[in-house]
Amino acid sequence: DVPELVDRFGRIARDLRVSVTERCSLRCTYCMPEQGLPPIDRDDLLRPDEIGRVVGVAVRELGVREVRFTGGEPLMRHDLAEIIGASRAAAPDADLSITTNGIGLDHRLPALLAAGLDRVNISLDTVNPEHFARLTRRDRLDSVLAGIRAAKAAGITPLKLNAVMMRETLADAPQLLAWAIEHGAQLRFIEQMPLDADHNWARDHMVTAAELIAVLGEHFDLAEVGRDDPASPAEEWLVDGGPATLGIIASVTRTFCDACDRTRITAEGTVRSCLFGDDETDLRALLREGATDARIARRWRAAMWNKQSGHGISLPGFAAPLRSMGAIGG
Ligand code: GTP
Ligand code: 5AD
Ligand code: SF4
Repeated sequence: DVPELVDRFGRIARDLRVSVTERCSLRCTYCMPEQGLPPIDRDDLLRPDEIGRVVGVAVRELGVREVRFTGGEPLMRHDLAEIIGASRAAAPDADLSITTNGIGLDHRLPALLAAGLDRVNISLDTVNPEHFARLTRRDRLDSVLAGIRAAKAAGITPLKLNAVMMRETLADAPQLLAWAIEHGAQLRFIEQMPLDADHNWARDHMVTAAELIAVLGEHFDLAEVGRDDPASPAEEWLVDGGPATLGIIASVTRTFCDACDRTRITAEGTVRSCLFGDDETDLRALLREGATDARIARRWRAAMWNKQSGHGISLPGFAAPLRSMGAIGG
């Protein structure tokens, strides 16, 4: 009976993504510049108690049901378990998850689970060590694979792996899919979006979902199943008759903005209604001046009402957002 968080196009936001840092242990070329993003002043980052407050407002006042912590790399926050604990206390019934690159996850997972984490999605673009090092500018594949194994051993289900499809790693896709299936994880391939800090994205250079399906089709029998939920970015495919499945997130060639159910909070505590579109609405000042939940919720609703209809990547005159993925939160 909480009034829904709606925009002027009638979409309802039930999925909150909270970026907790701009820092990362990798430098993926489709996301970060070589030197990393400009550091956010520590005092400007939301603290664990403030994140818990934001999550509580989202769930109690705005009808949010799922909360995902992203970055940057959320494991770069040494207080991530406190962030999750505060969020769990504020939202006992919400689904709490993180999207991580997996580095160090094996050591951190027990504390995160104890604090109330439900799920993890882990980014893995290739299992070829040289290609991994070139794409991420760091030689850390072993640590990522250890993180994935630890998540599997901890019984996290479903365990999803995210791979951004890049031309440099396209030929590795069949091997990556075989690895994921062997390790009991669901692999999702993602079309590269123009969200890299270096602004090197080009529509005629990116790998499309259709191209990837053709490459995988030479090694696997693939049958399209569809989306399990209309707001889910991933379309599912059955691999070799199942039970293994594959997800395709075709953000560019098969946009899902019409069914978008997302709202976002940046690491500095601003509402960002869409991944694209640069207008942000500050909540941090309200939090720090002792505003009521109702007042914070009102400002959040106003920000979401102004959400744009979609990303417009394929429209003439499209301009990439000023902030890159690492700064907005994947
Ligand atoms: P589940 O709850 O497990 O389905 O997670 P998810 O797919 O919502 O989250 P995840 O962080 O794993 O996102 C996977 C990829 O989807 C991201 O890396 C982005 O490339 C893309 N993505 C996530 N959110 C959005 C969004 O709001 N808009 C668009 N266009 N793409 C998004
Ligand atoms: N396009 C699509 N996905 C991206 N990610 C980072 N940058 C991009 C991009 N330009 C993804 C990562 C990870 C999540 C945090 O965001 O692969 O799955
Ligand atoms: Fe939603 Fe914007 Fe992502 Fe489209 S690009 S799915 S409108 S957040």
